[in-house]
Amino acid sequence: MAGKFTSSTQAIPNVGDVPRHIAIIMDGNGRWAKRRFMPRVAGHKRGVETVRAMVKACIARGVDYLTLFAFSSENWRRPAEEVSFLMNLFINALQGEIGKLHANGVRLKVVGDLSAFEPRLVALIREGEATTANNSRLTLTIAANYGGRWDILQAMNQLALAHPEKAGSYGEADLAPHLVMAYAPEPDLFIRTGGEQRISNFLLWQLAYSELHFTDTLWPDFDEPALDAAIASYRRRERRFGRTSEQLAEQPAVQALGVLPAPTLAPSASD
Ligand code: IPE
Ligand code: IPE
Ligand code: MG
Repeated sequence: MAGKFTSSTQAIPNVGDVPRHIAIIMDGNGRWAKRRFMPRVAGHKRGVETVRAMVKACIARGVDYLTLFAFSSENWRRPAEEVSFLMNLFINALQGEIGKLHANGVRLKVVGDLSAFEPRLVALIREGEATTANNSRLTLTIAANYGGRWDILQAMNQLALAHPEKAGSYGEADLAPHLVMAYAPEPDLFIRTGGEQRISNFLLWQLAYSELHFTDTLWPDFDEPALDAAIASYRRRERRFGRTSEQLAEQPAVQALGVLPAPTLAPSASD
């Protein structure tokens, strides 16, 4: 079964000037606070304000999907007080923001292994998702206790249970619908703030052909001009998806129509 969206490895996705899906690793909160001689958690608190600003900014720019890495499956390794602060911050943010998100037409999704969270938090998440389920202006995904490897494995396990008879011959299109972000196209633009140039187990499968943008700006300082700089950098990229520049120059109309120029590529459902 082909997914709803074009897989970058199975077909050539349509590419626009504005990234349709932006995925961000929000990094640098701790260092932001430390530079101000404040406790690390003050940086997390400030980071929520940047989230708010980015949701607004993405709506204004016509971005359809914004995905934010809030807590990785490895972040449990942090000091217990910091983990518990982050959980409370998440609860408070959900309580305070759902109404505003809903009023602004935002659909909220939370992806990750929620079984590790306290029931109160899980209930808030499910409630927030249900309230905003029919909104279509922007899909805001929060990745919480998320890991790219976990995602691929849980999809694999679901697939194996659903289709044991096909074991040994699973294809990409069999697995993709079981990934936790199957409701979204692959990210066009990946941004990591805070200076590190790594993926830290974020969307491993989905980032296959995303354009990567790394900035030293710490997450609490990330603002609209910084977002615009990332989008401007994205616009300058030539997204070849394996083809040559010459092919792109020769076949702009073909690409615009989403028709496959390469005979070796299997067709898939178009966006
Ligand atoms: C990112 O900021 C937020 C989370 C991982 C929850 P950090 O807390 O990693 O900030 P730095 O990298 O230590 O500055
Ligand atoms: C990545 O940031 C995870 C989140 C932003 C939620 P980290 O600060 O945990 O990443 P590493 O440990 O520096 O790779
Ligand atoms: Mg960090």
